[in-house]
Amino acid sequence: MAKEIRAAKLNTKQFIAEKVDEIRRAVGDGAAINALSGGVDSSVVTALGHRALGKRLKTCFIENGIMRQGEARQVKAMFRALGIPVQVIDAKGEFFSALKGITDPEEKREAVTRTFYKKVFGKLVRQSKAKYLLQGTILTDIDETVAGIKRQHNVFEQLGIDPQKEFGYKIIEPLIQLRKDGVRKVGAALGLPAALFDRIPFPGPALAARILGEVTPARVEIVRKATSIVEKELSNMRVFQYMAILHEDRVTGMRKGKRDFGLQIEIRCWNSIDARTARPTRLPYSLLERMVAKIAKDVPGVVSVTYNITPKPPSTIEAV
Ligand code: XMP
Repeated sequence: MAKEIRAAKLNTKQFIAEKVDEIRRAVGDGAAINALSGGVDSSVVTALGHRALGKRLKTCFIENGIMRQGEARQVKAMFRALGIPVQVIDAKGEFFSALKGITDPEEKREAVTRTFYKKVFGKLVRQSKAKYLLQGTILTDIDETVAGIKRQHNVFEQLGIDPQKEFGYKIIEPLIQLRKDGVRKVGAALGLPAALFDRIPFPGPALAARILGEVTPARVEIVRKATSIVEKELSNMRVFQYMAILHEDRVTGMRKGKRDFGLQIEIRCWNSIDARTARPTRLPYSLLERMVAKIAKDVPGVVSVTYNITPKPPSTIEAV
């Protein structure tokens, strides 16, 4: 297994030079492809791959229907400003049909993974004739998958899956020795704007990781609205990550003087260095009240909003 490079010991210049070289040697004069979600890891891999391969790296944003508000447009614009073209691929239909009827968390992750790598990406790779996929897997993803905590969407080899056999392409993982703090340092050294390398983490299974129960377009829309409110209100907090989660259970509430058996949203806001352990932030009560008021007013059907103060472990950062 790859040896960990701790952020404090990381020499970014040397790391970048080595990885650029490794990517060039692996790909030769062929072409590579990568999927950019706009999260920290995939953004750093995109910049690194682009530095190594230039136009021979084709970067795609997969619109899977479970991303945040306006995400495709924003990510494309941010990378255009860096001189890196991004092609947006609409695959909403494929993802929602794969997620239909699934409520088990690991099955949900598996559905997103298979749809992404086999169906949508497999087709793209075949069309592009790329033999290599560049991917932003980090050490924490491997740890948690191997430990059986969560099946991270981007881990194969460690589970005995051969991507070449399963999906028809090879995977290059330049960030595999780093954790999130190291990835951010590399991002900064590559000249990415802080809006990208300092962005709060967002999971591969996207908003599906924040929906308990079935992931339908209507339920995604609810958690997406709540997410927008939480992200806006907490954007100035210097914390690791924050999110809104949609619960499956309903509770009795009231609206306009009538009983309403409505939806529950949970807010989480984490302090963490590398996501292996995390502690909830002591948010000011007034800020919590403001988020509750906005969510209750603007997100249809919500009658209960809670703030979770359980640390990881025993919690995990995401709900699914
Ligand atoms: P958990 O929920 O396992 O999350 O405590 C740890 C960190 O990883 C992110 N996360 C993921 N990132 N693919 C990713 O790239 C995934 O499948 C995935 N699941 C969770 C999560 O947002 C947190 O920062």
